[in-house]
Amino acid sequence: MEQFPADIHRFCDPQLPHGRRKELVQLLRNIDEMTCQKLQILFSFSVPNQEALTFVADLKQPVVSAGAGTGYWEYLLQCNGVDVISFDTNEVYPSEMRYSEILTSGPEILEQFPDRVLVLAWPDTDESSTFSLDCLRHFRGDTILHIGELLGETLSANQWGQSSSRDFQLTLAEDFCCLSRIKLPNWPGHLDSLTMWKRKSTQPVMCDGAHFHYVNTKCRVYL
Ligand SMILES: C[S@@+](CC[C@H](N)C(=O)[O-])C[C@H]1O[C@@H](n2cnc3c(N)ncnc32)[C@H](O)[C@@H]1O
Repeated sequence: MEQFPADIHRFCDPQLPHGRRKELVQLLRNIDEMTCQKLQILFSFSVPNQEALTFVADLKQPVVSAGAGTGYWEYLLQCNGVDVISFDTNEVYPSEMRYSEILTSGPEILEQFPDRVLVLAWPDTDESSTFSLDCLRHFRGDTILHIGELLGETLSANQWGQSSSRDFQLTLAEDFCCLSRIKLPNWPGHLDSLTMWKRKSTQPVMCDGAHFHYVNTKCRVYL
C-alpha cells in the first residue's frame, strides 16, 4: 500500500484528469501479483486490525462465522482467545488456502448456534446473492457483527456498498439496532467497518406518546 502514489484513492474522483484516473485504476487492477483483489482472496475481503479483534474478544462470547472464505479473520480471532466456529460452502477456496478449520455447510447450520454471535464478513458478492438474508432468517441469536460496507459508506455506485445486499441491510435495520462501529483499514476503494447489531424486542412499547423497541445494550460480559 505504501508503494502506491498518494492520490491512489482518487481513482474515481471526476476532478482528476481522465488519463490519471485511468492510470490509477490500472495500478489497482493490474500491477504484478499484489493487486487488491488477489490480496482479498489470499487473506480477506476487509482488513482486520487489533482494535476490531480486541473488540470481539472483549465481548467474551463465542462466535459463528458465516461464509468464512479463507478463515483469516477467524484465525486471528482465535489467536485473540475467541471461540470460533466457521462454515462456508468451501467451493471457492481449496483447503490449502485456509487459515483455520471451516465446516462445509449452508446457512441452515445457524439454527444450531443460538448462543453464538453471528459474524458476517462480506457475505454477498453482488445484489443477486441471498446468502446474508438466508443467514438472518436462520439465526436465532441476538448479536450480529457485520464486517464490510453499509448503506452510504461506500465509493461504489451501489449505495448499499459491496459487501451485503440491500434486502439484507433493510431487514437487519428492521430487526436489529446498531450499537457499535469501528472503522477498519481499507483495501483501495473500500470503506469498511465492523459494526455490532443487537436484536430489538419484537413488540414496540408505547412510552409517553412514542413507540420504542427495547434493546439489551449490555455488550460486554466480564467473567
Ligand atoms: C465475498 S466472500 C467473503 C469471504 C470472507 N468472509 C472474507 O471476508 O474474506 C463470500 C463467502 O461466502 C461464501 N458463501 C456464499 N454463499 C454461501 C452459502 N449459501 N453457504 C455458505 N457459504 C456461502 C462463499 O463461498 C465465500 O467464501
